[in-house]
Amino acid sequence: MKVLHVELDQNRSYPIYIGSGLLNQPELLRQHIRSKQVLIVSNETIAPLYLPSLQAALGEYQVETVILPDGEQYKNLAHLEKIFDQLLAKKFSRNATLIALGGGVIGDMGGFAAACYQRGIVFIQIPTTLLAQVDSSVGGKTGVNHPLGKNMIGAFYQPQCVIADADVLDTLDDRQLAAGLAEVIKYGLIRDAEFLDWLEANMPRLLARDKAALAYAIERSCINKAEVVGEDEFESGVRATLNLGHTFGHAIETGSGYGHYLHGEAVAIGTCFAADLSQRLGWLNAANVERVIKIFQAANLPVTPPAEMSTEQYVDLMAVDKKNVDGKIRVILLEAIGKASLPVNVELAQLQDTLNNYSKANA
Ligand code: NAD
Ligand code: GLY
Repeated sequence: MKVLHVELDQNRSYPIYIGSGLLNQPELLRQHIRSKQVLIVSNETIAPLYLPSLQAALGEYQVETVILPDGEQYKNLAHLEKIFDQLLAKKFSRNATLIALGGGVIGDMGGFAAACYQRGIVFIQIPTTLLAQVDSSVGGKTGVNHPLGKNMIGAFYQPQCVIADADVLDTLDDRQLAAGLAEVIKYGLIRDAEFLDWLEANMPRLLARDKAALAYAIERSCINKAEVVGEDEFESGVRATLNLGHTFGHAIETGSGYGHYLHGEAVAIGTCFAADLSQRLGWLNAANVERVIKIFQAANLPVTPPAEMSTEQYVDLMAVDKKNVDGKIRVILLEAIGKASLPVNVELAQLQDTLNNYSKANA
C-alpha cells in the first residue's frame, strides 16, 4: 500500500491510501470514524458489488445506507435530499460519519451532504472509478448540478481520508476506464510532461488493465492532484489549471443532457478545444495540438464536439462557469505541453470564431 498526503493547514491534512485489497482492511477506515453512527452512500450499481463487504467490515457500528439511482442526471438537489432524509430519520448526530462508496457522482454528492448536515460531519471517500481515484475523491470539491449549470451548487469540504482500492476497477467497464484516463492525461498536459511521455508509451498497458501500470498512473495522478490542492485549496490560483478542458466540457455535458457524454469524455473533447484555442493564441504549434488529440484517441476517447449543439448554445453554457468573472468567459489553456495557463479571458468574437472553426475542422 502507498500512502500519500494532502497537506492542508489547521490540522486538516489527510491520507490517500492506494493499493490492492484495501476494502478488506477495516482498520484503515475505523481509525477515522469518531462515533457508532455511519452512513454509507452508494448507488444501485455499486452497492451490490461492494456494500456487503464494507458493511461486514463495520459490523459493530450502526451502519445505515442510502442507495441512489445510478447516473449523472441524479446528481441534483432532489436526490441530495434523500441523504438528509436518512440522516435525520436515523437521528444521526454531529460526530457521525458519512462514507461515499462510488464514483465521482456519489463522492461529490456524499461530500456535499456531509458538509451541510449539521454544518459538517466526518466524511470518508472510497472512490470506485478510475476518475474518482485519480481526481474527484481528492481535494474536497463537492456539490451537485443544476439544470442550467454543472456543479454550480456545492462546497469545499475535505474528507478525513481517501481509500483507493485498485481491485474495484476490475468491475468497471472499458468506457468508464477510458473516461478516467482523460483526467490522468490532464495531469501530464498541465504540469507533468514526463508523465505524459510515460502515458504515451504505456497507454496500451493501461487499456489492458495492467495492474502495475494502473497503480503507477493512480499514484502519479494523486501526487499531482495533492500538490496542486495543497498549494491552492480554494482555487484562487493554480488549482484552476485542473479545469483544463472543463469549461467547454461542462457545456457539452449540460447541453447534451447530463449522462449522455461521460464527464471524462466531455473533458477530452474540451481539452482538444483548448489546445486548438492555444494554437490560435500562438502558444502551441500544430504538432503539439496533434499530440494532444492523439493521446486522447489512444485512450479511446472522443475528440470532436457533438454536432447537434450550436455555437450560440456553447457560448451560452460556457457563460455559466465558476471561473468566469464579471460576465467574462475564462478558460484554461496550454502555454506549452506540460504547462497550463491560469484562466484567460476570451472575447466573445474570438470564442465564436474558434468554435465555428474548431467544430468544422474536426467534423
Ligand atoms: P460516476 O460516478 O457516474 O461513475 C461512472 C459509472 O461507473 C456509474 O454508472 C457507476 O455506477 C459505475 N461504477 C462506479 N464504480 C464502479 C465499479 N467499481 N464497478 C462497476 N461500475 C462502477 O462517474 P465518474 O466518472 O466516477 O465521476 C464523474 C463525476 O465526477 C462528475 O459528476 C464530475 O463532475 C465529478 N468530478 C468531480 C471532481 C471533483 O473534484 N470533485 C473532479 C472530477 C469529476
Ligand atoms: N477537478 C478539479 C479540482 O479538483 O479542482
